[in-house]
Amino acid sequence: MSSSETTESTAGADTAGAGSVRLDHVTHRYGRGSETFTAVGPVDLTVPAGEFLVLVGASGCGKSTLLRLIAGFERPTQGSVRVSGAEPRPGEAAGVVFQTPRLFPWRTVRGNVDLALRYAGVERARWPQRRAELLARVGLEGTGKRRTWEISGGQQQRVAIARALAAENPLLLLDEPFAALDALTRERLQEDVRRVTDRTGRTAVFVTHSADEAVFLGSRIVVLTKSPGTVALDLPITLPRGDVDAEELRESTEFAELRAQVAHAVKAAAAA
Ligand SMILES: Nc1ncnc2c1ncn2[C@@H]1O[C@H](COP(=O)(O)OP(=O)(O)OP(=O)(O)O)[C@@H](O)[C@H]1O
Ligand SMILES: [Mg+2]
Repeated sequence: MSSSETTESTAGADTAGAGSVRLDHVTHRYGRGSETFTAVGPVDLTVPAGEFLVLVGASGCGKSTLLRLIAGFERPTQGSVRVSGAEPRPGEAAGVVFQTPRLFPWRTVRGNVDLALRYAGVERARWPQRRAELLARVGLEGTGKRRTWEISGGQQQRVAIARALAAENPLLLLDEPFAALDALTRERLQEDVRRVTDRTGRTAVFVTHSADEAVFLGSRIVVLTKSPGTVALDLPITLPRGDVDAEELRESTEFAELRAQVAHAVKAAAAA
């Protein structure tokens, strides 16, 4: 599907509302002078509020760069990025889970989550309950007092996810957040993130290398070409959302067909 068809298919959707994302002819280059390197683009992409967009593509095609542009941590070399209709401000535009967790190492697990609750403007009296809910959601009950360097890489990543959820931001950006987790925890968190975003109407942009994860989570999947990434395929996912039986969904024929289609598209885009 071409990007112009994408724009048509999202016409009438909420493309400037809270949590929406709009990329117009975005290209990003790293470096200066004659030493520049085009990391991504040109990309045109509109993500209406409430959509769960999954980005897939070969390593180095520019997925993390795109997320950093949307988060406002980088400014595009060309084109424009809009979040909720405005230029994204770093730290404010979105709740972000980076590819490698970035926690405050001198703080405890609890301290890291509390900081996110404070930034989110949650009343201090509600912190203990909210913190307990968030840590339970990512399976980290009882670890609140531990320092972040005392827990495993996968546990650190789960603290980062709890922190992003704490932010209650209408836009969530997640960069391969489950890559370091065991299969069971990963499936549980996938189900959680799917349910939470569906229920709260938050917009999500999620990066993964797994076709399986992409199909389970996405209401839409965008496959990028190899470096510098441009949109190779824009695929709406029409699997049921909301209160669904996750196991049934994963075992359905439609799921298997979509997974095969996405895996094939990723391979073709990387080879093209
Ligand atoms: N800060 C930087 N300075 C220079 N080049 C960079 C920088 N960050 C990324 N790049 C380059 O830009 C390209 C895109 O990188 P990016 O991290 O966005 O890829 P990716 O799709 O997220 O890859 P992966 O799947 O491996 O995480 C790569 O070639 C990378 O080496
Ligand atoms: Mg990356």
